[in-house]
Amino acid sequence: MTEWSPRSWREKPALQQPVYSSPQQLEGVLGELAALPPLVTPWEVSALKTQLAGAARGESFLLQGGDCAERFADCNAAAITNQLKILLQMSLVLVQGSKRPVIRVGRLAGQYAKPRSEEFEVRDGVALPSYRGDIVNAPAFTAAARAPDPRNLLRAYGRSALTLNFIRAMVKSGFADLHHPEYWDLDWARHSPSAAEYHRVVAAINDSLRFLENVLGVRAGEIERVEFYTSHEGLHLPYEEAQTRRAGPDGCWYNLSTHFPWIGARTCRADGAHVEYFRGIANPIGLKVGSSLAPNDLRALMDVLHPDDEPGRLTLIHRFGCGRIADLLPPLIDAVRASGKTVLWCADPMHGNTRVTAAGVKTRRFSDIMGELEQAFDIHAACGTRLGGVHFELTGDNVTECVGGARGLAEEDLHRAYKSEVDPRLNYEQALELAMLVARKMSNMSVSPPSRLS
Ligand code: PEP
Ligand code: CO
Repeated sequence: MTEWSPRSWREKPALQQPVYSSPQQLEGVLGELAALPPLVTPWEVSALKTQLAGAARGESFLLQGGDCAERFADCNAAAITNQLKILLQMSLVLVQGSKRPVIRVGRLAGQYAKPRSEEFEVRDGVALPSYRGDIVNAPAFTAAARAPDPRNLLRAYGRSALTLNFIRAMVKSGFADLHHPEYWDLDWARHSPSAAEYHRVVAAINDSLRFLENVLGVRAGEIERVEFYTSHEGLHLPYEEAQTRRAGPDGCWYNLSTHFPWIGARTCRADGAHVEYFRGIANPIGLKVGSSLAPNDLRALMDVLHPDDEPGRLTLIHRFGCGRIADLLPPLIDAVRASGKTVLWCADPMHGNTRVTAAGVKTRRFSDIMGELEQAFDIHAACGTRLGGVHFELTGDNVTECVGGARGLAEEDLHRAYKSEVDPRLNYEQALELAMLVARKMSNMSVSPPSRLS
């Protein structure tokens, strides 16, 4: 294999990259970005890798979730707080159901780039470049909005830093204190059909905490605050390259814009630029695996991305769709088993279940999402592997983008509060309900006793 450097991907075919009208302006911006401080530290990144290794062994469980794409306009206190609240609430429910620590990873503080199926969008005979996320262009259907602007890279970096700074401050000041889950109540959700069950979960966790503290005779210092990590799709390679630094005690190359970057399903070619970039960074990485990935392709990808079988290095995030997972997941499990390597298996029940209504609205059915998740747990159990995490597109806001759930959201309701410019997200109630169903599923499956609660 040729020598790796943060820019060696430039020698390979790079899919899904915007075309800028001024390469000089792009290079200028990248130089500026490379000189700015990193957003996360190698120590945090390594700590997450260690935790993911534990999840692969079944000692903990990964909850990864957030927007399909963050918007610059949503970089505000209310939106970030709501996102944090729903993820914390879901994690509590999962801690209780799985009887394991839960690793919390947001799709945030950098999830600004979107892969698109079509290079161009055509409306009334007019073709313009597709919207590729705020890091590239803007969604309005005008030539000016759709022109890729390199300055958006600096804006994305800035908003990632602001988001992460706010999250760190909230966590540090006690917002994520397990003793005070009442901080996480979402105002509009008090009357949700799931509220009573959630409050029962909180009461049970409070009892466990009090029990532990009484037994230990101290306030449970180590467990009272939760940790929170960030992730995004490492799609825009010039941006990721500029955020790559040789750092840490081991002197390895890290992507320090996020703890946990992943490779999307559209850019996971073993001989492509994205895989070339990812093979050289020391972060734990995710790989989206879907219906277009043959077992042989996965084997080739594992050779490049996971050559040393390093614990915690590789998470396979599978997304097939409720009707296809039963056929497509077992051959990939076999391929991994044949490699002799360990991965963390995580289910994304969103991206294989996107459909378009008769009225032309992109949506997902709650029942399909839950159906794929239930099968994921069962298939892994039947194959002798373990589902160690879940990956959702969700928001703490009261949107109407996915249909179904306890409130029975119908297609006619979608227009009421459809805010996503890209994929449909679970709203607060649907996300919490799903966490409860997953927790119930996990507590019905055999689980080993908790080693640590958090
Ligand atoms: C996504 O996670 O938003 C996404 C585009 O997923 P995938 O690469 O699995 O299609
Ligand atoms: Co998406």
